[in-house]
Amino acid sequence: MNRPRTEFDASTIRFVVNGQTRDYSGSPAKRLADVLRDDFGLTGTKIGCNAGDCGACTVLLDGKQVCSCLTPVAQVGGRAVTTVEGLAEKATLSGLQRAFHKHGAAQCGICTPGMLMAAADLLSRNPQPSADQVKDALGGVLCRCTGYQKIIEAVLDAAQAELPPLPATGAAVGARAPKVDGVAKLTGEERYGADDIPVDALWLRVLRSPHHHASFELGDLAAFVAAHPGIERVFSARDVPSNSFGIYPHIKDQPVLADGVVRFRGEAVLALVGTRKAVESVTDAEAPIRYKALPSVMGIAAAAAPGAPLVQQDKPGNILLDGGVKKGDAASAFASCAAIAEAEFKTGFVEHAYIEPEAGWARRVGERLEIHVTTQTPYMDRDEMALVMKLAREQVRIVPTACGGGFGGKLDLSVQPLVGVAAWLLDKPVACIYSRPESMASSTKRHPARIRIKSGCDASGKLIAIETQADFDTGAYASWGPTVATRVPIHASGPYFVPHVTALGRAYFTHCHPSGAFRGFGVPQGAIAHEAMMDELADKLGMDRLAFRRLNALKAGDATATGQVLQHSAGLPQCLDALKPHWDEALAACAAYNKTSGRQRRGAGIGCMWYGIGNTSLSNPSTMRIGLSAKGELTLYNGAVDIGQGSNTILTQIAADALGLPMGQFRIVMGDTDLTADAGKTSASRQTFVSGKATELAGRDLRRKLIKLLKASPDAVLSLNGSVIKARDASGEHQYDLAWLPARGGTDALRGEGTFDPPTSPQDADGQGVPYATYAFAAQLAVVEVDCDLGTVKVIDIVAAHDVGKAINPIQVEGQIQGGTIQGLGLALMEEYLPGRTENLHDYLIPTIGDIPAMKCILIEDAEPLGPSGAKGVGEPGLIPTAPAILGAIHHATGVRMRQVPVLPHRLRAALKHA
Ligand code: FES
Ligand code: FES
Repeated sequence: MNRPRTEFDASTIRFVVNGQTRDYSGSPAKRLADVLRDDFGLTGTKIGCNAGDCGACTVLLDGKQVCSCLTPVAQVGGRAVTTVEGLAEKATLSGLQRAFHKHGAAQCGICTPGMLMAAADLLSRNPQPSADQVKDALGGVLCRCTGYQKIIEAVLDAAQAELPPLPATGAAVGARAPKVDGVAKLTGEERYGADDIPVDALWLRVLRSPHHHASFELGDLAAFVAAHPGIERVFSARDVPSNSFGIYPHIKDQPVLADGVVRFRGEAVLALVGTRKAVESVTDAEAPIRYKALPSVMGIAAAAAPGAPLVQQDKPGNILLDGGVKKGDAASAFASCAAIAEAEFKTGFVEHAYIEPEAGWARRVGERLEIHVTTQTPYMDRDEMALVMKLAREQVRIVPTACGGGFGGKLDLSVQPLVGVAAWLLDKPVACIYSRPESMASSTKRHPARIRIKSGCDASGKLIAIETQADFDTGAYASWGPTVATRVPIHASGPYFVPHVTALGRAYFTHCHPSGAFRGFGVPQGAIAHEAMMDELADKLGMDRLAFRRLNALKAGDATATGQVLQHSAGLPQCLDALKPHWDEALAACAAYNKTSGRQRRGAGIGCMWYGIGNTSLSNPSTMRIGLSAKGELTLYNGAVDIGQGSNTILTQIAADALGLPMGQFRIVMGDTDLTADAGKTSASRQTFVSGKATELAGRDLRRKLIKLLKASPDAVLSLNGSVIKARDASGEHQYDLAWLPARGGTDALRGEGTFDPPTSPQDADGQGVPYATYAFAAQLAVVEVDCDLGTVKVIDIVAAHDVGKAINPIQVEGQIQGGTIQGLGLALMEEYLPGRTENLHDYLIPTIGDIPAMKCILIEDAEPLGPSGAKGVGEPGLIPTAPAILGAIHHATGVRMRQVPVLPHRLRAALKHA
């Protein structure tokens, strides 16, 4: 093949990008990804690992997909590169992009450019691929949000996809509307934490502890700066105005920069600030830090051992918190049980593995500090940064960027205090992007658990008693440990009516990275234990496992372990009834398969869950505003960050129907703490329920004001055309020109506001009370195939039935269930973070597109009267029942009950041999 001349001059490389000839001057070894982003401003190409593991950087090189992070720019001279920015056809979305939009294939969107480019490569060679061919072609790109199902559907539909029309006014709730912010994720225009850094920003790099536990002394920092041209300053603990932070107001135990002692490998010690080249060229060996390694406490058993070294000197026994729930007299009640099951379970650290590493930048604006950052919780960030900086809250502004996945891991501070302190003291913009190993070493993880459980039932299968002790490894600092230790006992008896319950939770400090929030706050670990008990009790009585759960399922009118009587919306019985035909079919299919299958055995399992929506026994408010300007601009001021779950779209749907104007007329301001009201954090599956209700109230408030202004009847039909608002009712048409109104609150002439705080009550000493206003329920069925010689497990089928109250947007709801389910599959079968050993995405495995089973979602709508149109939440529930269902299926296939996850092949093989 004839190629054009590759070199423009000795130091210039010429190639074609998206149809345009571009010249690059600089190091020929520079990664193509960096050239595209830094030199050409094409930030649609994402960097998730810089190591060839995630595929986020995938572009086309002469039409073939390549990882641009592994491609030196020298290799592209004279060739053609296509990035996501070049995918649209004549400024309109390509068929592939339309299909992604229609099917909801982009959640957070950080993997989307890579997925699109890999799919474009496939479709250029094979316009009508099979699902397996799609899986093969997209196998190099990781997605942590979607569970891949909708991505496959989109690629298969690329040839004919047309976008559905936006729902009509009054029919937005319940519509399968595409994301209101979806197009930017498909064209590369979306700006994530690393995408909008000012060109004059200084760069910040953190030097971190290589030890699990050590004391340290610092060398001469001034001399270090003088010896390193380009480095402007080195920050240490003494530079931080108030050097401690933490989630809870009374537990601020984590330093921004360690002060004389490090308590986990990866803890931040020094921050180098200067030019990017200068800070990146310092080696760890040059760091002016002298460590003295100290004995470390690794794991729950070590932390609980008599005489164990204390991780935090003022925490005797290394205990962060004890929590518990006590109802009836479980210990005595076991005497009356016809069947009893008992076991201990273990889980490990699990990494969030969001594809976007932590990133952001800060600047000082007079006497205010402004931070642009990828986050799940701008208002908590604002309040925490005010404490760290010793500033008033009003002096701090958080501007959330698009968030490339969070799952709880971006609820804690990461780069915020580092860039904040540096920008404030230097009075210059300062940016920081974590590398993948840095992100994994320093960020929170799912709590490892050791759970002892004992359950008993009568001869008919009715549960009588459950006793459980759940211990968690909370790492070096508290983070969300108290939340996990209190949430787990409440949920420990499972979604069942049990008269006698004793459930205790305890979190231990260790010399590991802090354990924090991760989709479920400990409930997934607890569900593994209580669901195994349901299987064992059913087996002991010779009962069908689904029927056993159906007999005991909580329903409206039942009291939970905390004594809370469920008034409404307890849809587990409906979920189980919906699964029943699939269950019967799966059991029959497994039996037929196993008659002739040899070493391959198939089995079916069931997992159930319940999940309290929102904070535990704490005030949990959200305030939303909708503004209408004198020009007729309609704005949803939304303090709830959309981390990919679709809240921007769902809240717009709710606002549209509550106000009575089409969702296409809304624009959204999201998360900016100067422009929105506090909607709380995006966690605990709360935004649809809590912020959704606040949005509904805001929409109704603005509607009332408009109806009054227009002197129309309450049921009038509204329309907005430019600045003219009209209402049509039985008496005719009324209209008003908003330009006549004085502007208030910025540009808005009229505003509606709504606040909702779900009603809960504190728990007493026995944990009795109303910790949550409502609960989500679900039941999932899994079918697995086990290779009994190798110990490998392949999940081949999942049916997920979820009671969501009301599916405001079924596409988004299914996406949450599918994505959560695949994270649950990872928890069950492959994900185990080992500090110091799995700090990258090739040693730490998450499910790929090749690992996913066939999946079916069944949505049960048992309306919650408190929620918007009856909706509850679904962010976490998708994950919780999956691992128990898979474990039950493995036992059904093999007869082996696995007590530790992940069920890695060597563990299952050993158990099979033992059995
Ligand atoms: S950034 Fe290139 S593969 Fe991850
Ligand atoms: S949508 Fe794929 S990683 Fe978020």
